[in-house]
Amino acid sequence: MDPTVGKHGSLRNVLVRLLLFGVFVVIFRFAYVITIAGENCNVGDFCFFSSPTKINAAVAGSGPGSGALSVRSSAELSTPENQSSKEWITGVRFYSSIFQNMIATGDLSRNAKSLCVNTPTGRDVYALKEIGVEDTVGIAKKAVKSLVKSGEGHWIPFGNNTFDFVFSGEGGLERSMRPSEFASEIARTLKPKGFAVFHVNAKDSYSYNSFVDLFKFCCEVVKFHDIHGFDSSMPLIREIFMKKIGYRETDSELFDLNRDQKCSVPDYKRELVKNAEELIEEEPLKPWITLKKNVKNIKYAPSMVDISFKNRYVYVDVGARSYGSSIGSWFKKQYPKQNKTFHVYAIEADKTFHQEYATKKGITLLPYAAWVRNESLVFEINNDPGDKKKEKAGRGMGRIQPLDSQGGAGGGIQTTQGFDFAEWLKKTVSMNDFVVMKMDVEGTEFDLIPRLFETGAICLIDEIFLECHYNRWQRCCPGQRSPKYEKTYDQCLQLFSSLRQSGVLVHQWF
Ligand SMILES: *[C@@H]1O[C@H](CO)[C@@H](O)[C@H](O)[C@H]1NC(C)=O
Ligand SMILES: *[C@@H]1O[C@H](CO)[C@@H](O)[C@H](O)[C@H]1NC(C)=O
Ligand SMILES: *[C@@H]1O[C@H](CO)[C@@H](O)[C@H](O)[C@H]1NC(C)=O
Ligand SMILES: *[C@@H]1O[C@H](CO)[C@@H](O)[C@H](O)[C@H]1NC(C)=O
Repeated sequence: MDPTVGKHGSLRNVLVRLLLFGVFVVIFRFAYVITIAGENCNVGDFCFFSSPTKINAAVAGSGPGSGALSVRSSAELSTPENQSSKEWITGVRFYSSIFQNMIATGDLSRNAKSLCVNTPTGRDVYALKEIGVEDTVGIAKKAVKSLVKSGEGHWIPFGNNTFDFVFSGEGGLERSMRPSEFASEIARTLKPKGFAVFHVNAKDSYSYNSFVDLFKFCCEVVKFHDIHGFDSSMPLIREIFMKKIGYRETDSELFDLNRDQKCSVPDYKRELVKNAEELIEEEPLKPWITLKKNVKNIKYAPSMVDISFKNRYVYVDVGARSYGSSIGSWFKKQYPKQNKTFHVYAIEADKTFHQEYATKKGITLLPYAAWVRNESLVFEINNDPGDKKKEKAGRGMGRIQPLDSQGGAGGGIQTTQGFDFAEWLKKTVSMNDFVVMKMDVEGTEFDLIPRLFETGAICLIDEIFLECHYNRWQRCCPGQRSPKYEKTYDQCLQLFSSLRQSGVLVHQWF
């Protein structure tokens, strides 16, 4: 017998048996995967249907210092085809490196229970898991399988005090339509002493401080720095670290704890006044020309600073008259709004103008007279022939007066309800809102403005357009002053100067 034949024969036998065994194992494993594991077909399993390895290999190879970790975590994440894109890989790489820095500086622990807010792709979630912060989840409008749950910044689907670390990237907060709710949801779900890190576009001290103010009720800034972004949507990112310290009520702190009801305009708002147009110091001989021309010089707040990070955007027109007289013709068309939607409050006591407001959207009409307390008032209907503007807008409305001081001027006397404007403002807007006011109230500004200071309501207003009424030179009759108002130009100038000295951005209106 040829020894080699027997040798070959037994080798063949062994090989056949091994092969049969292998086939058996394959069939058994296949049956197991199909019946027990269902569609959960991961890299670690022996299975016929999935092929997610290509994508993960690409990320694993390029991620900074991630090697073995990423291969393991990729086994746990089922990755949609979207994640092979260049944007995905660049993003994951970027987030890996910033989170690794946080670990290096001790701001982030690998044991931290973590949340990424408004993350449509889940790149930050993926990066956190990849570097070993495994207990991480994301939320976005649309869920991404195994990375991102359904939820939004202003509605975080987790209980109170859940997370050690919350991350909000890609300018998520400034793009939110409800930034205050966004902030309070983050505060709610963050554990006491937990950290929240934000990537924002805060370009100037106004927007940075507006951001900080949104979180004043719960948290304080630990540090911030500027870093380069990873795509053109945010070339420069301000990374802000906040710590939850507990709850405070800021508006009531401002107005109630402070017994004398004073407030002071913060420094970052005062900066605006420094850059505003100069006041016209000399009394103009032709105010109807000079003041009108001055509108061109006006430096609007939103043309000087970024007004993102405000909760609401509000325009209050005190003495609104007809819709077209300033809301439609000026505010809607010319005021720079940085794409924000403003809610408009039109305050107008004259009934002639009320009807047209009924059909306007986004406008609340207050059909009363702005005054320093709640009481009935009388006002005169003027038909001042010298004043073209007033005629065009309808009738002129005289200065309002309390009912008992009625001077018996005869003719068009009307009564109206006056309300405490300053108190109304404090109830209606908050420190976190952006508030623009135009005031044209036939001399009543000399009552209303001091009352705004007295009550602290002045600090709620970001920008004022004020028409100050004085005994100005008349167009009709050269050399004659208007008999309608007793205040002088100097008194008006004083009113403007005192507002600006207090840090209020006020403009001379006509
Ligand atoms: C990829 O992600 C974007 C959001 O970043 C989404 O709009 C798109 O539908 C996704 N595509 C796929 C194929 O999942
Ligand atoms: C969660 O926190 C919010 C805000 O502090 C509070 O109003 C609410 O009652 C808390 N809910 C529970 C279940 O403790
Ligand atoms: C406003 O939105 C338009 C289009 O949505 C955009 O082109 C423009 O740049 C935006 N302007 C500002 C100031 O954000
Ligand atoms: C004034 O009237 C308003 C509206 O009716 C009311 O809410 C407010 O409490 C009143 N203020 C005072 C001081 O009576």
